[in-house]
Amino acid sequence: MIYRYSPRPAGRCSSGPVLIKMVPLHAACALLSLAPLLVLGHRPIWIQPEQVHLSYPGVPGSMRVTWTTFNETESKVEYGLLGGRLFELSAKGGATLFVDSGEEKREMYIHRVTLTDLKPAATYVYHCGSDEGWSDVFSFTALNDSASFSPRFALYGDLGNKNPQSLARLQKETQLGMYDAILHIGDFAYDLHEDNARIGDEFMRQIQSIAAYVPYMTCPGNHESTYNFSNYRNRFSMPGQTESLWYSWNLGSAHIISLSTEVYFYLEFGQELIFRQYEWLMKDLEEANKPENRAVRPWIITMGHRPMYCSDDDQDDCTTFDSYVRLGRSDVEPPAPGLEDLFYRYGVDVELWAHEHTYERLWPVYGDKVYNGSKEQPYVNPKAPVHIITGSAGCREKTDMFNPNPREWSAFRSTDYGYTRMQVVNATHLYLEQVSDDQYGKVIDSIWVEKEKHGFSAWL
Ligand SMILES: [Fe+2]
Repeated sequence: MIYRYSPRPAGRCSSGPVLIKMVPLHAACALLSLAPLLVLGHRPIWIQPEQVHLSYPGVPGSMRVTWTTFNETESKVEYGLLGGRLFELSAKGGATLFVDSGEEKREMYIHRVTLTDLKPAATYVYHCGSDEGWSDVFSFTALNDSASFSPRFALYGDLGNKNPQSLARLQKETQLGMYDAILHIGDFAYDLHEDNARIGDEFMRQIQSIAAYVPYMTCPGNHESTYNFSNYRNRFSMPGQTESLWYSWNLGSAHIISLSTEVYFYLEFGQELIFRQYEWLMKDLEEANKPENRAVRPWIITMGHRPMYCSDDDQDDCTTFDSYVRLGRSDVEPPAPGLEDLFYRYGVDVELWAHEHTYERLWPVYGDKVYNGSKEQPYVNPKAPVHIITGSAGCREKTDMFNPNPREWSAFRSTDYGYTRMQVVNATHLYLEQVSDDQYGKVIDSIWVEKEKHGFSAWL
């Protein structure tokens, strides 16, 4: 059927051109008056997978793939060994509907599929989605579950959608195969919920070129607190049953504990969370310290967003002597315990923090006092945990300023944008270095932490 258009003759119908010949005039006018409605009523179909990211479920030989679609679809991953037959294996999972609490109540489906029985250290090629649409092709290397493996990490916090200065360098280094896992120590996107969670969507697209290749392990920060951390809890898929708030996992000779410092600050979401997390931490540390476990995973490393100590020029919790994270809260009933004594008692070796938009390395510290291994070799057999603050990856809030008169536990400080690399080399040696993005990737600080003994007795 052929329609011909002609300019609208004056007075024929209310608006638009007129269809002539095949359609009676009154019907054409009725159709045209509906046209704006038809245009408005048509929404795109969003079945294409996006925001693909990996996490390690904590079980050797496994990997979890998480992604988003905006319409409901199946959740499948097709995968295979690199060099083998493409997509010869497949796994199914499920999707949860996440409704953002912003005005628009935007809906998205978060898909999760866990791959199991992976060969340690083997590289796999995969795509995710469903028969309605597949993602691009990505690859990952299954984590080596041997305790003699020397995993390499990139560590940072406070990376945003705007001004993500370290992002390109991290993307490239990840794709070059420099990291086995990423630890993002809180504060994402600035903020995941903003613009009805569109900022969260865009941030998750930005990190896809890191997170679709290596496990992207997280903990919550203050910027995730809106709507009771719901964007954070729904978008990530960390091990355990706490919606990614606190959990632990093992890699190489390390036991890694991720926690929420935010339970000390957002009491409106449940004061009891401080105690629930504390009890869990105590149990987890108890288990990790059983002689048979600590012999295999001697390094205990914690990551939490807000530090116990820092020498920044702001009024943050870590600048105060009676930090909530360090000493707990005596202004609640019952009083809530802090983390410093707990971590000291169970011989935590390294504590990773962010929140301050700077890099700061501390001398081994406990109770506001320095406990170096020795004057010449402070990090050889240190007598207290080693703290690193690395929150300068880049965000719209820029970097922070330092207090010109730091306390004696402050060993090295930088206000450059950047991130930290860590390698847990073996049972006795752990390496840390700081990369300055401002200085085009220059390593501006590095230490070896060396320990013949781990656990509480190492302090004595
Ligand atoms: Fe923060």
